[in-house]
Amino acid sequence: MRIGLYGGSFDPIHNGHLSIVRGALKSGAVDLVIVIPTARNPFKRGKNLSPAPYRFYMTKEAVEGENKVIVSDCEFFMDGISYTVNTLRHLTAKATMTNLLKEEGISDKKAAEAHDFFWLCGSDILTSFDKWYKADEIISMVSLLVASRPGETIDIDSERIRLGKAFGHEIPVLKFDIDGVEVSSSDLKRRKKFVDIPQEAKDFIKEHALYSYSDVWEAVSDDAANKVLDFAIELYPILKKKRLLHTINTGLLSAHLALNNNADVDKALIAGVLHDCAKELSEEEQRDMAARRSGDTFTDFKLLHSPAGATMAKEKFGIEDEEILNAITYHTTGRGGMTTIDKIVYLADKIEPARTYTDLSLMRKTAETDLDSAVRMCLKSVMGKFDKQGRKHHPLTNDFARDMGLV
Ligand SMILES: [Fe+2]
Ligand SMILES: [Fe+2]
Repeated sequence: MRIGLYGGSFDPIHNGHLSIVRGALKSGAVDLVIVIPTARNPFKRGKNLSPAPYRFYMTKEAVEGENKVIVSDCEFFMDGISYTVNTLRHLTAKATMTNLLKEEGISDKKAAEAHDFFWLCGSDILTSFDKWYKADEIISMVSLLVASRPGETIDIDSERIRLGKAFGHEIPVLKFDIDGVEVSSSDLKRRKKFVDIPQEAKDFIKEHALYSYSDVWEAVSDDAANKVLDFAIELYPILKKKRLLHTINTGLLSAHLALNNNADVDKALIAGVLHDCAKELSEEEQRDMAARRSGDTFTDFKLLHSPAGATMAKEKFGIEDEEILNAITYHTTGRGGMTTIDKIVYLADKIEPARTYTDLSLMRKTAETDLDSAVRMCLKSVMGKFDKQGRKHHPLTNDFARDMGLV
């Protein structure tokens, strides 16, 4: 098969990206396109890039209805910076590609054929391609398949000749025409106006309040930002889609609330992003990890993941800070003497933007101006739910409620 590979940040995916994918398929140059959202972009580390799971799932939702288009999560499983050359080495290896195609329902015979690979790109890439990391090796694995827009300002043929001279040999460049969609992800983000993007991406941005936390990204330290971006990638194989997005949403909302309440933004962000990290481990693993953090304080299965999460945050993610570990430990029950970070993570977990279990508008509004009142409302509603179900409150929750003046 002739396989087009299309890498990018997709932050957010927009109609310009889709026109490249569709144009490549329509041109007949490729039989299939694999879209590869970059996990760790070499040029946009830290605050300039949304956490990878947002970009991956948004892209996946946006191309769901497209024929012959696959979205690959391969970069989530690769160590270090996501250089194109590394991704291509991995993807063009026979066993990797055969498995990937089989998983997508392509017949064993077709999947195992020898394939030709094409790197899809805009014409602007040509002007700097010779500076790319290990560009020589890249073009030994793929041909460049370049989109030409109506009124194209870059002369693709002269660029091909220039690159040939730079590399010392002719390089494979093919072109195809696309519709004139001129959109840039950074423009969309700067203007916070998400036009010219697929409806699915618009819905995704709204559901998860993506691009709403510029205050957080400005305030958080580079170290914490890079840490949570890595954690989000490491959590990808551990948590299912909904829960992973919930944890990142909780982290960002926690950091936002920390900013409003003069609390430590870095700690709130990290605690929020990791708070449910142990939730999909087996009961046995959760019990063992919970006991190591808190003895037999937590025995109910639904609560185990909180102390177990603190153990996992320490052992897997290298978190030593007790304020962060406590916020994770007590995010389900609360405790007496809750710190501001404890309260923030407790609340953000219940009201992050994708939560819809009840009408949260008043709680969310209150959280913006009065943390304690919002926490009180939240705790009251959680306790009310327990009462309705005839479940007993954990003694730590009773301590928390007493502190908050609820009993
Ligand atoms: Fe939880
Ligand atoms: Fe949670």
